Amino acid sequence: DRILLLNGPNLNRLGKREPEIYGSDTLESIELHLSSVAEQHGFMIDAKQSNHEGELIDALHQADDQHYKGVIFNPAAYTHTSIALRDAVAAISIPVTEVHLSNIHARESFRHHSMIAAEAIGQIAGFGAYGYEMALHALIHYVKENHD
Ligand code: DQA
Repeated sequence: DRILLLNGPNLNRLGKREPEIYGSDTLESIELHLSSVAEQHGFMIDAKQSNHEGELIDALHQADDQHYKGVIFNPAAYTHTSIALRDAVAAISIPVTEVHLSNIHARESFRHHSMIAAEAIGQIAGFGAYGYEMALHALIHYVKENHD
């Protein structure tokens, strides 16, 4: 059973990008750690990152077509702007959990609104890299409750 870990623009620079906001872990270390946690629960993580909106949309469609169990998605700045990504989340049948490292609700007002949240099963924000692990546990729980 596979889960897609999908990260949007600028998250390839985690670790050196505004570490006081986003922490010092690199994306690669987050991906490796999440894979090992997922394996303990019988899931495989497929990790993708793109700075391009259309590639993120394609990745969501593919995960659905290839019967992934769900998606852990940090849409980064597209969270606040992208109707196309919101529609992509709505257009697929697998569950999507939205993650943000920072507490977007405590930052600039333009970050308070998420285009994605209403189409996601839930949102986790403000817990740094640990939020991805929270999202994984929430997604696995959801999958087991709803599809086993
Ligand atoms: C982010 C929050 C967004 O507002 C921002 O544009 C990002 C990262 C986060 O993980 O905290 O790039 O999604």
